[in-house]
Amino acid sequence: MSLLKVKPLREDLPFGARVEGLTPENIHDPAIRQQLNEVFEDRGMIVFEHVEQTSQMQVDISEVFGPLKDHPVKMVERVEGEHPGVIAIRTDPKAGRVEIDGKELLTWQPWHFDHSYNNELNRAGVLRAQVRAPEGGLTGFADGIQLYNSLPEHIQKKLEGMTVIYTLDLDYSRQPYGLPKNFKEIIGKGAALAEAAKLFPRALHPAVWTRKTGEKVAHISPYGQRDIVGLSHEEGYKAFAEVWDAVEAALTPFYHQWQDGEMVIWDNWRMLHMATGCDPKYDRIMHRTTIKGDYGLGRWETEPKTATTADAMA
Ligand SMILES: [Fe+2]
Repeated sequence: MSLLKVKPLREDLPFGARVEGLTPENIHDPAIRQQLNEVFEDRGMIVFEHVEQTSQMQVDISEVFGPLKDHPVKMVERVEGEHPGVIAIRTDPKAGRVEIDGKELLTWQPWHFDHSYNNELNRAGVLRAQVRAPEGGLTGFADGIQLYNSLPEHIQKKLEGMTVIYTLDLDYSRQPYGLPKNFKEIIGKGAALAEAAKLFPRALHPAVWTRKTGEKVAHISPYGQRDIVGLSHEEGYKAFAEVWDAVEAALTPFYHQWQDGEMVIWDNWRMLHMATGCDPKYDRIMHRTTIKGDYGLGRWETEPKTATTADAMA
């Protein structure tokens, strides 16, 4: 009998699970590891409840699902110490400050999947809240399988023929859609990211892919999206805007309000995620690991130019 208690994330959602009972001791049990991998494949994301809040436990949970990968962008903050795979995402009043409906927010992010600007897509990410904001600071998750199945047939067909081009230049001023109404960027992400983006070729990913188990996954993001293969910039803009409007209408998201004792893993080949942001007066620090892997369908638009570029992307 399993030592873990597994239940749906929410009764009305076709994705997500909650797992209780994982400890630093039983996490090494092969039967438990297998059970966790099966739940993950089936449900696309897991909220671990009442787990030990240490970097070691975060790394141990991550390694149930695969080896850790260092983040591909060197300027991203690493958590000091003996856990090189853990990065920090923190509120910084001097960067990434936006305004939505007249309210200023830090750490807001639009719907996306991670590393779209890379040829490889990491398998998963694991998040935990090191410092929670007392209000706001939710993480939204949406399922690409549910999304594909909910889209009108003519949009499914359009997506199936579409290869999307993404860049690391994630500045919102160059992102024409997928931003809320009444959105304003107060302080941008800074020149350093735009400079780093120049080292990377753009990356191509299919808008729909099929899992080994047969489900089709709608997997597109407006974050860093620039062009569509085979279309002019203007045609690509129109085509993407049309499908993205349909995606937003079909998404059934879950907005996770972080509680003490939690960690969350999500399947980066299947799920989209976003961050609602929080009031600049609050501190919010998230620790994240990245789990290696690749779905094998992404590629660079052009070959990386230099060894330095290859190093930056390793
Ligand atoms: Fe992300």
